[in-house]
Amino acid sequence: MEPFKCHSCLVPIFLVIVGCHGYINYLAIRLPLQGERPPPGSPWPQPKQWQQSPDLLTIDPIKFQFTSDTDCDIITKAFERYHSLIFGYKGLWVAEDKPTLPGLEVVISSKTCGKYPSLSMDESYSLVINNTATLTATEVWGFLRGLETFSQLVYDNQGELLINKTSITDVPRFPYRGSHLDTARHYIPIPVLKQNLDAMSYNKLNVFHWHIVDDQSFPFVSKTFPKLSEKGAYSKLHLYTPEAVADIIEYARLRGIRVIPEFDTPGHTASWGIAYQELLTTCWANGKPGVAIYNKHAEHEILDPTKNFTYEFLGQFFKEVSEVFPDEYLHMGMDEGYYYCWFSNPNITEFMTEQGFGKDYFKLEQYYSERVLGMISDLDKKYIIWQDPVENGAQVRNDSIVTIWKGGYSDWRRYMESVSSKGYYTILSSCWYLNYLTYPPAWRQFYSCDPLDFTGSQAAKDRVLGGQTCLWAEFVDGTNLLTRMWPSASAAAERLWSPAEVRDNDTAYFRLDQQRCRMLRRGIPTEPLLGGYCGDYEWGFEKDEPQLESTERPTTCINTSTCLLSISHYQLLCVVLVLSYLLNSCK
Ligand SMILES: *[C@@H]1O[C@H](CO)[C@@H](O)[C@H](O)[C@H]1NC(C)=O
Ligand SMILES: *[C@@H]1O[C@H](CO)[C@@H](O)[C@H](O)[C@H]1NC(C)=O
Ligand SMILES: *[C@@H]1O[C@H](CO)[C@@H](O)[C@H](O)[C@H]1NC(C)=O
Ligand SMILES: *[C@@H]1O[C@H](CO)[C@@H](O)[C@H](O)[C@H]1NC(C)=O
Ligand SMILES: *[C@@H]1O[C@H](CO)[C@@H](O)[C@H](O)[C@H]1NC(C)=O
Ligand SMILES: *[C@@H]1O[C@H](CO)[C@@H](O)[C@H](O)[C@H]1NC(C)=O
Ligand SMILES: *[C@@H]1O[C@H](CO)[C@@H](O)[C@H](O)[C@H]1NC(C)=O
Repeated sequence: MEPFKCHSCLVPIFLVIVGCHGYINYLAIRLPLQGERPPPGSPWPQPKQWQQSPDLLTIDPIKFQFTSDTDCDIITKAFERYHSLIFGYKGLWVAEDKPTLPGLEVVISSKTCGKYPSLSMDESYSLVINNTATLTATEVWGFLRGLETFSQLVYDNQGELLINKTSITDVPRFPYRGSHLDTARHYIPIPVLKQNLDAMSYNKLNVFHWHIVDDQSFPFVSKTFPKLSEKGAYSKLHLYTPEAVADIIEYARLRGIRVIPEFDTPGHTASWGIAYQELLTTCWANGKPGVAIYNKHAEHEILDPTKNFTYEFLGQFFKEVSEVFPDEYLHMGMDEGYYYCWFSNPNITEFMTEQGFGKDYFKLEQYYSERVLGMISDLDKKYIIWQDPVENGAQVRNDSIVTIWKGGYSDWRRYMESVSSKGYYTILSSCWYLNYLTYPPAWRQFYSCDPLDFTGSQAAKDRVLGGQTCLWAEFVDGTNLLTRMWPSASAAAERLWSPAEVRDNDTAYFRLDQQRCRMLRRGIPTEPLLGGYCGDYEWGFEKDEPQLESTERPTTCINTSTCLLSISHYQLLCVVLVLSYLLNSCK
């Protein structure tokens, strides 16, 4: 082989190493994963203080008792749920060689039940497992978080239920830890929404931001304006009736989860216009009304901010919404108000002149947002909005919360900086867009994103309330929502709950895998993170087989044939291309 030719081989060899073998670390032969494997029964998200011990207790499912000093439906119903979550393994037996934990005693120091969870709820708790177990919390919301932790500490060792003695003191880092869902681009069935609320509670998330309607459909059934969903929903099957909405709110309340609806305006409102076209701006083209220039504007779109009808309608509509949803906040949307349709309409131009706005359409947007937000304040609600109006200079109430959605993983910091230093409370969502798929899955990136990681004063950082994942439903419906959401959202959940120092993504990998298997055992179809298997909880096993949670899962491939099967077509193609290139250039 001539030296020059050999040199030209370096490129493909480099490609083999970087381009192809990059993924093989998932099979952990040459590049074993670096993290530490946690012992079984390790909680997710990691508690603030967790004192571990090697002393084991056994649990007898028949004798185990939950007791509480406070009478509250949230507590009674949580005991029922967690009884089946903790003892839902099959083929359990009790070993005689260890002390038995008799039960869990719950002490709520405020002795109050608490009607609805809120931004100011107290979620702190402490948990001591010694020869007896005590869960202490100030409020019932802390009890719910602590009971979840307790359920995660219990693990199944070949049919024997064990728990280590331990002592935990825990409090969330941020009070707002949300999961956003879009139910307009595709309708998400109620049972799937409920499963998602279950999974949120397993990860201590506490806000369901329900982006309930959009351009594509209007599934929310309004009693004041029933035509909105009669005309705007996909069909009579694709509805959220008042009963269904109340059911979701109650289901969430019992899990300490707030439900914040978003009725996005003035943009994203095409579905409102099917029943009430007069709400929308008539777009003009070629001197005619109601003509589209696609890519710029449709025939009719964006609420018409110049008509009193718009505000009268919204006033009645939001009055109903504020009564249906008990949370003190409503999300008012207000993102992506594109002005092309407004530009085109001569009546809007005339209104702009009358108001002295000249050609400044920001001022029109500001006029709209201030009028509508004022209406919400009059209804005794506070509001959350996407960042756009604040960026455009609208004055909104100083206790408003602004959701940052722009900038993606890499460029969100400047928005957090500018909006929080203007004095608004903020919630970060930009780095947690779960609808963008990557290979490998982006959970490490989700895990690395810290909402306080921007340049700003302490006062600005104190106004960061937390963050939320977003799942826009262009390509998501009931079939894939849960696998798309979990366990990716778990990565954000730990970032928002655990102390900032808990950030080693290698070690988190194995604990997250344990959490993924735990969710799978509890019936949430979460997608895999590692090779190997996850107890026997993947679909398709015989139902009567005892279901054992194995803690030793192979993460390497066992032999060459299983390795080859694990390599994707893309990687195989890459190997073939590189080999043929090598053969050609090195002949
Ligand atoms: C629980 O105890 C076992 C046996 O002593 C030990 O191997 C394991 O690391 C302990 N787990 C925790 C979470 O402390
Ligand atoms: C359990 O109680 C004993 C005796 O009070 C104490 O020494 C020990 O530290 C406790 N263990 C834990 C894990 O709290
Ligand atoms: C619209 O409402 C404003 C403020 O309430 C009022 O001054 C104005 O006269 C109304 N316009 C029409 C056409 O009703
Ligand atoms: C413009 O306003 C006039 C007077 O209110 C009304 O008759 C007309 O229908 C409006 N035109 C459009 C395109 O909205
Ligand atoms: C917010 O606005 C209210 C009413 O306008 C005012 O009383 C309060 O002092 C303001 N708070 C801050 C922190 O600026
Ligand atoms: C995972 O953690 C390592 C070490 O802190 C860091 O260099 C890397 O960027 C993280 N991965 C991602 C995708 O953020
Ligand atoms: C490779 O491992 C699989 C799974 O353990 C086994 O079924 C198969 O026979 C093995 N193949 C070889 C060539 O050893």
